[in-house]
Amino acid sequence: MNQSYSVEESWARAEDARDPLAWCRDAFELPRAPAGVPLVYLCGNSLGLMPKAAAARVQTELEAWGRLGVEAHFEGPHPWYSYGAPLCEPLGRLAGAGPDEVVAMNSLTVNLHLMLVTFYRPEGTRRKILLEESAFPSDRYALASHLAARGIGPDALLVAKPRPGERLLRSEDVEALLAREGREIALVWLGAVHYYTGQLLELERIAAAARRAGCLVGFDLAHAIGNVPLALHDWGVDFAVWCSYKYLNAGPGAVGGCYVHRRHGRDPALSRFAGWWGNDPATRFAMQSQADFIPVPGVAGWQVSNPPILALAPLAASLELFERAGFAELRRKSERLTGYLEFLLSEPGGDRLGVLTPRRPAERGCQLSVLVRGGGAEALTRRLREHGIVTDYREPDVIRVAPVPLYNTFHEVWRFGRTLVELLAAG
Ligand SMILES: Cc1ncc(COP(=O)(O)O)c(C=O)c1O
Repeated sequence: MNQSYSVEESWARAEDARDPLAWCRDAFELPRAPAGVPLVYLCGNSLGLMPKAAAARVQTELEAWGRLGVEAHFEGPHPWYSYGAPLCEPLGRLAGAGPDEVVAMNSLTVNLHLMLVTFYRPEGTRRKILLEESAFPSDRYALASHLAARGIGPDALLVAKPRPGERLLRSEDVEALLAREGREIALVWLGAVHYYTGQLLELERIAAAARRAGCLVGFDLAHAIGNVPLALHDWGVDFAVWCSYKYLNAGPGAVGGCYVHRRHGRDPALSRFAGWWGNDPATRFAMQSQADFIPVPGVAGWQVSNPPILALAPLAASLELFERAGFAELRRKSERLTGYLEFLLSEPGGDRLGVLTPRRPAERGCQLSVLVRGGGAEALTRRLREHGIVTDYREPDVIRVAPVPLYNTFHEVWRFGRTLVELLAAG
């Protein structure tokens, strides 16, 4: 643990004064209590805050619609026909992929369904899907529905579990499982950062093990993109999907995203659920010709419908902030901010509190999952909220706390720590 942290308020204030990313906070709307006081918002793992520029970006497109009508598809400040294209460079930087390998579209589970159509290819005895025991329910429902659609029983879902008495997944156990049963596994599907424990899996290592076993591999990046460094292309990951309302700050139900490795993106023969927006733009409007579907090269060829421009506008505003801040700098601050939270959590409550999330920064993002032993996590979350601190409770015994480097401060983390000490002391 970093010895340079301190429980003194003045230390947290000084750290904020030194923060080269302090300007970012002013670029966000901060939720306030009814009296107007800003809340300490440590809940970006659930819904990221609103970039101030989002409202103007949406307004620009509303005005373009009002002023230009249908012409705004090709005229105006950001022609709608290609609105998503400039988002691919910044999204690619966050995913560690080329601009042709990422696209903003749909929502996470919808994208997972589209990916499973292409990348779940049961053949002979290789029919299973490997997932973690505590996978996010939506993922499990999607995977099970693809098995059912192909007449395969639910026992083809093979789960990777933590060891008895443990709550984190060990890479060596996933590797061993793949070495042992890989010949029966068609697809490996795992959450990159686990929504409950906050564990960041060793994605490169797992992707390599999956490849050695002849399996395709995809990751759920809901809690990873915009939070942890990713190099999907270099790691050889086959595909990934994400939502944009958490660390990408693109608003409730925001347009999600999808990554497909270039080696697949360049293969027009891959089967997929097609729509006109994934078709070659040269023939997209040649509706009379009844021509066959020609996929756009890259992941763009998995698009189905024309995108919701008003919903993409906040994502554009948010990605501009990531570009200005630079992800390496954000990650540096994130590690320090979360390290500070961990330091403060080592003080209060004695045995009452624990941290489920791995200690090593390389194995986590900004979220720490605080385990409340002996019950009372929900009540504690409520009491924190009464003191102006927003975190979230997950059944049965965890409070998720996520200081986000774009908008949270060291002083906010200090306030969380001090409030926790007071609440625990009050019993
Ligand atoms: C890990 C994870 N996977 C999947 C989802 C589902 O996302 P969506 O509603 O965008 O399909 C969520 C939503 O919070 C999530 O946290």
